[in-house]
Amino acid sequence: MIVGMDKSDPGIAQGLQGVYFTESKISDVDGVNGKLYYRGYSIESLAKNSTFEEVCYLLVEGKLPSRREFLGFDRQLRSERQIPKPILGIIDEMTGRAHPMDVLRTAISALPAYDKDAYVETREENLRKSISLISKFGSITAAIGRRMSAKKYVRPDQSLSHAANFLYMLNGKKPTEKQAKVLDLMLILHAEHSSNASTFSTLVTGSTLADLYAAITAGVATLKGPLHGGADEAALKMMREIGEPENTERYIEDALGKREKIMGFGHRVYKTYDPRARIIRSTLEELQKSSSPEVRKLTEIALREEKMMIEKLGKSRGIWPNVDLFSGPVYTSIGIAPDLFTPLFAVSRIPGWCAHMLEYWEHDRLLRPLESYTGPLDIRYVPIGKRS
Ligand SMILES: CC(C)(COP(=O)(O)OP(=O)(O)OC[C@H]1O[C@@H](n2cnc3c(N)ncnc32)[C@H](O)[C@@H]1OP(=O)(O)O)[C@@H](O)C(=O)NCCC(=O)NCCS
Repeated sequence: MIVGMDKSDPGIAQGLQGVYFTESKISDVDGVNGKLYYRGYSIESLAKNSTFEEVCYLLVEGKLPSRREFLGFDRQLRSERQIPKPILGIIDEMTGRAHPMDVLRTAISALPAYDKDAYVETREENLRKSISLISKFGSITAAIGRRMSAKKYVRPDQSLSHAANFLYMLNGKKPTEKQAKVLDLMLILHAEHSSNASTFSTLVTGSTLADLYAAITAGVATLKGPLHGGADEAALKMMREIGEPENTERYIEDALGKREKIMGFGHRVYKTYDPRARIIRSTLEELQKSSSPEVRKLTEIALREEKMMIEKLGKSRGIWPNVDLFSGPVYTSIGIAPDLFTPLFAVSRIPGWCAHMLEYWEHDRLLRPLESYTGPLDIRYVPIGKRS
């Protein structure tokens, strides 16, 4: 019997929970001990010592670069920032009518029209496309943000780092070193996370040997949902609904009473404190002194949510703060609007998606699970005119 063909005992893993589908050397998520590693490096060490550009190299190339390798990679990243004019037209046309994630998805899916080697499927070409995508995700998202506030497109500045250029293209003025560093940290923390829904979706599409642009477009589509990438926007929305810190406990009590989910908590893999949330929490604490009253209030609400949820559902149910709890206040502190949180997540995650796709294509196997059919069989067909 071929594995999985026994219809009498399908052994369904709802939501594919606990199912391994491939091997990977890209990242390890240890949900029991609350650890995360990219290519063997702990997230704490990368957050402290690295940059987003270097982490991109690490993820897609599989090792930390030498200085020479880094300079070449970084130069290529910087040179790929320009957005083709027709894509700017798509952004102009769609922004304001559709969610920014839909605009980003459409813009990304149009990119092969402006890449003459879009369908050349060598590893070398896919690496080149990956670097181009990492670069363009930043520019396109910044252009969407610009358009959302009815401001003119700002051309990329090649002298700036990826994070600094993003903020420059978004705000029209160069960020402070501190702002760029905060964004750089957030990009590192969100860059990769094993076979999460959007990465899996990227791999499903890529496993059919559809091209990289198609696979990445699927990843963007999947990231949108509030159970995944959309959670940081949803978490901030919840904090705004709470309004004042002293309303927090009553709000959470009511929501849990109605069996609603509290955004920014819980995770399919982490059954303990998400290590990324710890780093973002301490960044937020560092930012506290210099931040606006709004950010201070959001932080207080998030901290009260954290305390109450850990007491109520942490140890007993394994529902702990995740990466999205403190992200909103941090993004707010560097002037990023909530509508742009999820696209910004995509700006961070693109190296992870590309790294997985490049790795999976080394031994590609069509991803095609089974579902157990529970409906009737052999029903007699009645012509439409004779149906009651
Ligand atoms: C991320 C998430 C989808 C993973 O959960 P999962 O493994 O699929 O688990 P489920 O959604 O099936 O939840 C299991 C139980 O925990 C509860 N639960 C999970 N997350 C919860 C949350 N954030 N708030 C309250 N209850 C939660 C569910 O209500 C469910 O309870 P039940 O067994 O009494 O029905 C889930 O925790 C969630 O929706 N969190 C909020 C959204 C979020 O922050 N997402 C970002 C993830 S990084």
